[in-house]
Amino acid sequence: MTMKPLPLTEELHTYLVAHGSPPDEIAQALTEETIALLPEDARMQVAPEQAALLTFLTRLVDARQAVEVGTFTGMSSLAIARGLPADGKLTCFDISDEFTSVARRYWDRAGVSDRIELRIGPAAESLRALPTEPYLDLAFIDADKIGYPVYWDELVPRMRPGGLIAVDNVLRGGRVLAPRDESDRAIAAFNDMARADERVDLVMLPVADGLTLGRRR
Ligand SMILES: C[S@@+](CC[C@H](N)C(=O)[O-])C[C@H]1O[C@@H](n2cnc3c(N)ncnc32)[C@H](O)[C@@H]1O
Repeated sequence: MTMKPLPLTEELHTYLVAHGSPPDEIAQALTEETIALLPEDARMQVAPEQAALLTFLTRLVDARQAVEVGTFTGMSSLAIARGLPADGKLTCFDISDEFTSVARRYWDRAGVSDRIELRIGPAAESLRALPTEPYLDLAFIDADKIGYPVYWDELVPRMRPGGLIAVDNVLRGGRVLAPRDESDRAIAAFNDMARADERVDLVMLPVADGLTLGRRR
């Protein structure tokens, strides 16, 4: 197998972010506020290059109908909403009012609140309540890792042909090779499950903590 390993130093990461739609003042403020308010949890936020990629992918597939599972303080939802047309819709799922109250403020500030509907509650139940026809253009999964197989199975049939599902943290800091806890094992099992799913074309990218992209056939 040909390998092209590239250790991403902090300096190189800064360079990479700066040369691909870097965070604007609103995204920057959201990162700073998340760190100040929730120092223990702030690392859950998607990386800036992932935010840029999510906006890019949303536009690439001409998404009008999108879903996000795992919203936290709103960085990924902000990125997806910004890629949608003015009459597009992003439905977000999270269990936390506390985290998502921050997200709501930043959606307002960015002028995208009217494109976003937030549903609070366990995502598995909320996803089951969505229309069952294949109407979704884009979905992003980034909630509790144990739920990934359920979220995937609820979302794949709802994706239109050519629709895109992005799944975060699929490398678990490299621990998918030697799982240490329940979440690592859940992701390793999820990766095998997604790989065997004939309803999608799949690619796993070494972006941040690993991002799988699935395209509905
Ligand atoms: C990794 S964070 C999401 C980060 C977010 N995508 C961002 O860019 O800031 C995971 C989120 O999933 C939420 N969550 C955990 N379990 C959940 C569940 N069963 N259903 C819905 N959301 C859940 C947490 O409250 C948390 O906000």
